[in-house]
Formats: sequence, structure tokens, C-alpha cells
Amino acid sequence: MRRIDQPTVQRILDTADIVDVVSDFVSLKRRGSGYIGLCPFHNERTPSFSVSKSKNICKCFSCGQGGSPVNFIMLHEQMSYYEALMYLAKKYGIEVKEREMTEEERKAEGERESMLAVNEFALEFFRNSLNSTPDGRNIGLAYFRERGISDTMIERFKLGYSPESRDALAKEAVAKGYSPDYLVKAGLCYTREHGELRDRFRGRVIYPIFSVSGKIVAFGGRTLRKDKEIAKYVNSPESVIYSKSRELYGLFQAKRAIAAADRCYLVEGYMDVISLHQSGIENVVASSGTALTEGQIRLIHRFTENVTLVYDSDAAGIKASLRGIGMLLSEGLNIKVLLLPEGEDPDSFSQHHSSSEVAAYFKEHETDFIRFMTDILLKDAGDDPLRRSKVISEIVRTIALIPDEITRTVYIGECSRMMAIEESVLTLQVAKERAERAHRAAEDAGRARAAQSIASPAPAADNLSGQAVTPAPTTQQPAPPLKTRPLSEEERENRHFLLQAEHELMRYALKYGAATLADTETSDGNTIPVTVLDYIDAMLAEDDIRITNLALASAYDAALNLLRTRWDEDRDGRMARQQADDAEAFRLGIEQITRSAIDMSSIKRAEDALHQQIATDSARAIDEYACNYIERILISDPDDNIRRVTTELVSEKHQLSKIHTKFSHVETERERLPVLVPRAIADLKYATVELRLHRQRKALLDAQQQNDSDAIIDVMRQMQELNAIKMELARFLGERILSPKK
Ligand code: UTP
Ligand code: MN
Repeated sequence: MRRIDQPTVQRILDTADIVDVVSDFVSLKRRGSGYIGLCPFHNERTPSFSVSKSKNICKCFSCGQGGSPVNFIMLHEQMSYYEALMYLAKKYGIEVKEREMTEEERKAEGERESMLAVNEFALEFFRNSLNSTPDGRNIGLAYFRERGISDTMIERFKLGYSPESRDALAKEAVAKGYSPDYLVKAGLCYTREHGELRDRFRGRVIYPIFSVSGKIVAFGGRTLRKDKEIAKYVNSPESVIYSKSRELYGLFQAKRAIAAADRCYLVEGYMDVISLHQSGIENVVASSGTALTEGQIRLIHRFTENVTLVYDSDAAGIKASLRGIGMLLSEGLNIKVLLLPEGEDPDSFSQHHSSSEVAAYFKEHETDFIRFMTDILLKDAGDDPLRRSKVISEIVRTIALIPDEITRTVYIGECSRMMAIEESVLTLQVAKERAERAHRAAEDAGRARAAQSIASPAPAADNLSGQAVTPAPTTQQPAPPLKTRPLSEEERENRHFLLQAEHELMRYALKYGAATLADTETSDGNTIPVTVLDYIDAMLAEDDIRITNLALASAYDAALNLLRTRWDEDRDGRMARQQADDAEAFRLGIEQITRSAIDMSSIKRAEDALHQQIATDSARAIDEYACNYIERILISDPDDNIRRVTTELVSEKHQLSKIHTKFSHVETERERLPVLVPRAIADLKYATVELRLHRQRKALLDAQQQNDSDAIIDVMRQMQELNAIKMELARFLGERILSPKK
């Protein structure tokens, strides 16, 4: 799919107009400088979905959803980035030039297409045989009816039947011109000694498995025989179109409901998904009886952060699956658990109860995962102190997996109450666990680097947070292990200030990145413009400061990268167009002047004024282009994180600062950047210095306790340096410093 060439991608992004794109789904009314309508992402009666034509983004001020045209289509149509681009290309009639494929790619692509085509054929064959052949109806359809499955569900999940005959599918496929080779590769058939084709699924009811975008990638076939000799299910083998660990049964049918409910139920089997759908619970997928994989979790994460695991009440199953949950947690998902009544699985439960009963039960019986886990494990351990302490460390390990600091803190509080253990003790344990894990990750990464012997030195993340960071997926390296201790109140506050400062600075970086902040003089007397990003980058490098928030850091890296790789060329292109426009404007202006001129001197005056006017307008247009350059590209970036962060920062409502000049002109944020950006940098530095000082104070206490005079002197010297920087920053920032209270 990822074969649209970059210029075409850019053309699609440049052409797509947000008002236009949103209007296909939402009826918009003019309001002020923009448009407003009812949010399509949540239920509402008064419109809070606003669309800005000038920024080319939309945003719901109630639920927060929105973004660039691609982002809107991705959200609304539940499409991937590339699917959304194709959608927009089609809407605007942009011809998509696919990147030249290599010979190998062409072959692989051809193979994939051919396998999907035979699966397509098989899907229709199985469906037809279920619905329109005597055997299909008497055996297959009768089976589904007996299990209480409605015709609507049979149609929605495209259920089918494969006849008993040993090669019915093979014969018809070959007669229709499908190659035996692909029938075998797709796993629909296998060959016997003499090359005869045999149907893999014969005599079974068929559950087709669709990819998230609706391609038919595999089939599951259930036997209708009761004997235990044969496998209950036969599934398509792994192939270039089907990787079991990367698909979830039912996701294609469920994705809209998952996004709408902002929750995904996870069950085991095909039948569980179908029966729950029939009961009105449509946001449900199945892991198909195996442990969840990372790929499947990512897939869910595209649609929601909230997952509820639905369990039969048998304890063995629950304990087995507790292991898989670690992965969900470390992906940052919020997890709940739903326990069904004794002896029921999701399928039987929905068959035995009305839709409203099912809905009510689901609503009332969801419990928080950590509470659930703590509960059953503690019950299990009883009063045995040894087993209790094992349970505690297991829970600590689990909580330590959660990437979000605040969520972790909440769980620690909860568990401290449930297990009657001091919160600070748990906090300490969790911090230790995270530090150890980060240490291991750093070692692994180190080994991996050493093994590859890559020369490029990656900068270690500056760990200002005072605690270990999970192995970072971005360019930042895992942090070195730190002394383990819980965050103190003061440190937490410092950290909060730091994050605020980062946020503010990154807002300038993304909103105005390519705009000129100041001109600087080179040694040979020329002046060159310094962009906002150049300036920020240089100032941060000066004190070796890095952005600690990973999402912000990746957007910032992307912005710098744009500036370094594409900006010059794009700006020159824009300037050239502007010059042409200017020349045209000048020609028209002169015509006008000559027509209405009275004498030479008035012509001269009018010409001068025209020159002035065009120069001003032109400079303003170029500046506007520069201001919007970074955000315009990054709000449509293929990376989910970058897109989200940019959209958030760009659409943030910030107060228009009421600075009146003596001409009573209200200065815009753009005009004040030469003041605002250096201040934001100083704020960030100040917060950083505070944190570092705070650590030194602790180190000083340690050193004093141990009577280590060398260490004391060393720490004091460093503190002195930091204090000097702090004073300087404070002077610069003047009265505006809101120092964290001491
Ligand atoms: P179950 O045995 O619970 O089957 O396996 P089920 O889906 O509830 O089927 P019914 O209700 O007996 O008709 C759960 C899931 O595990 C996978 C299938 O995806 C199944 O839906 N499975 C199970 C297999 O792939 N192969 C098997 O032999 C058994
Ligand atoms: Mn079942």
C-alpha cells in the first residue's frame, strides 16, 4: 500500500480542503471566521465541532477529536493513513502515481493479489454453498440456526459452508481459471502425492477472517462432527497475506463501534464475537484462542485506549491470561475485566439473555484490572506471608509496566489500600522495578548496538524526570539507571513546571518553526535570517537540554528534520511564485496609475507608494507561509504521535496577549516572538536548573550523612554553578518567575 510517491502525497495534502472534506459528513454553518457543526465523533445536541479554513484543521472542543483532512478521514472512516490519502486522491481526482516497484516487490505484489483473488472466489463459493445448496442448507445453515445465529449475522460475518466432497472447491476454482499454485499457497487446498488437489476445509462451516480494511485473508473452518479425533477448527495457514498474530477476528466489523464506544471487548472465539454482535454489543474482537500479540494490541490501539477482557468464570483460564495483560499495559492501554456468571461463555451468555440484559450485565460487571488481579491473587495466597509477598511483587511488576506516570500513581494508591501497605513503600518498589527494567533495556540496546557496530553515537536521553523511562521507541535512547526513590512533592512540582515549559516552547517551535526570528550578521558582513527552530535548537544545545516528553520530542525532531531537508527548496519555490505575482501586481498597478495620472510628479509618487505596498504585502505573504510551514506539514504526518501532538499544539486556544503599542496596535503573537521565544527558553532552562539543583541538594544530604568530604565539596561546587545560572536566568526573566514554593 505504501507506494504513493512523496510529491503526490504532498499534492493530495495541499489540495484537500478541510471544509470540503468535513462537509461530506457534517453539515456546517458559518460562525465567525470559521465553520461549526455537530461533532461526528460523539453524541451532542449543541455544535462544538469547529472547522478552520485558514488553518485547514477541524477540532471538537468538547471531545477533542479532529485534525487535518487526512486525520479527519482516518478517524471518521476508520482508515489507515494511506487509505485516507487514497480516499482524498479519489475525491479530488488526483492521479496517484505509484512509486516504481522493484522486480521483487512486483512479484510479491502479484502473488498477494492472486492469493486475495482466490480467497475472494472461495468466500463466494462457501457462501453460495451455505445458502443455496441442499447440503449447505440442511447441514451448515441448520447448524447456525441451531446455535441461534440470525441471517443478519450470517450475512454480516459472511459465514459459509464447505461441502463434504473432497475437491468441490478445487474443481470449480480450476474450471474458473484460478491457478492450483495459488489455491495451495492461500491454503484453501493441499496436494496429494500425484498432485491431486484436496480441499482443506471440506465438511466444515466457514468463518471468514477479514483484515482490518476488509480484505479476505484467511478462513476458519469448524467441524460439525462430535468425535474428538479430528481438530475442532482448521484455519488457513500463515502466508504472505495472513499472519495470525497480526489479525483479530471481527475487527473489520467492529472498528466503527469500537471507536464510537471508545472501548473494545476482547473474547476468545469466533462464536463469541458473532453472538455478542447479535446481542447488540458490536465493539468486540476475538484473539482466536491464542495469547495476544503486540501486533494485535497495536491494532486495537488504533481505535481505542480502553480494552475490556471478557472471561468465563473458570479460574484456570483467568490466571493463564494474566500474563498477556502485561503487554496491554505496557502499550499504554487501560484495562478492565468482565467476569461472566458461572458456567457461561460470551456466546452462551448472549444466547441465554436478552440484549438489554447483556448490556446491563456488561455495564455493571466491569471491574478495574488491577483491582481484579489483586483480588484474585490475594485470595489465592490467603494468610501465607510468603505467598502474599510474592503476590505483592507480582503486582508491583505489573504496575511498573504502565507507561503513564499519573495512572501508575493512581494504581499504587489503590493497591496500597487493598493490600494494606504504605503507599510510599509501593512507590519505591515500582520505581525500583522500572529502573531495573530500564537498565536491562539499556544493556540490551547497548549489546544490540555493539553487535551491529554502528558508529553513529546516539545521545542519551537527559533524564530530568528523576525516574527511569521505559525503553523509548523514538530516536532517544533508554535512560541510564537512576537511583531509585519516589518523587518527592517538591520534585513533582518541579517536574510539572518543566513539562509546562516544554509544552510552551514546543508550541512556538511547531507553530512558527520556519518563521524568521531575527537576522544575524555573518563574519563577511551579510545578514542571514535565523528561524525560530534554528534559534531554539541552538539555545537548547548550549546547555545540553533535551525535550523529555517523548511525544513532544518526536514532533520536535520531525520539525527540525523538515527545516534541514525541505525548507530551503520549498521556500525558494514559494519566493519565486511570489516574485511572479509581485511583477504582475506591479504591471496592473502601473497601468492603473498611467490611466488616471495627472502629471509626472503624481505618477512618481503613486509609483513609489505602489512599490511600498507590493513589498509589504509580499513580505507578509512570505512570512505567513514560513509561519505555517512546519505545522501545515506535520498535522498530516504519517506518524500518529506527531500528527496528534501537532494538532493539539496548533489548535490550542491561547490568549491574545493584550500588548498595545503606542499606536494602539495590538501586537500579535507572531510579532512578539523575539520576546516570547527567548523567554520560553529561559523558562525551560530555569525549570531544568531547579530540578538539577534539587537533585544536588539530595546528593548533598547523602554525602553529609556519609561524611564524605570530597563528595560534599564536589556537590557544593556544582550547586554553586547551578545557582549562578539560576540567578542569571532569574534576572532575565524578571518578575515573571513563579518559583516553585520552597
Ligand atoms: P473454542 O474451543 O472456545 O471454540 O476456541 P468456539 O469458538 O467457542 O467454538 P464453539 O463455540 O465450540 O463453536 C476458541 C477459539 O480458538 C480457536 C478458534 O479461533 C476458536 O474460535 N481455535 C480453537 C482454533 O483455532 N483451533 C481449535 O482447534 C480450537
Ligand atoms: Mn464456544
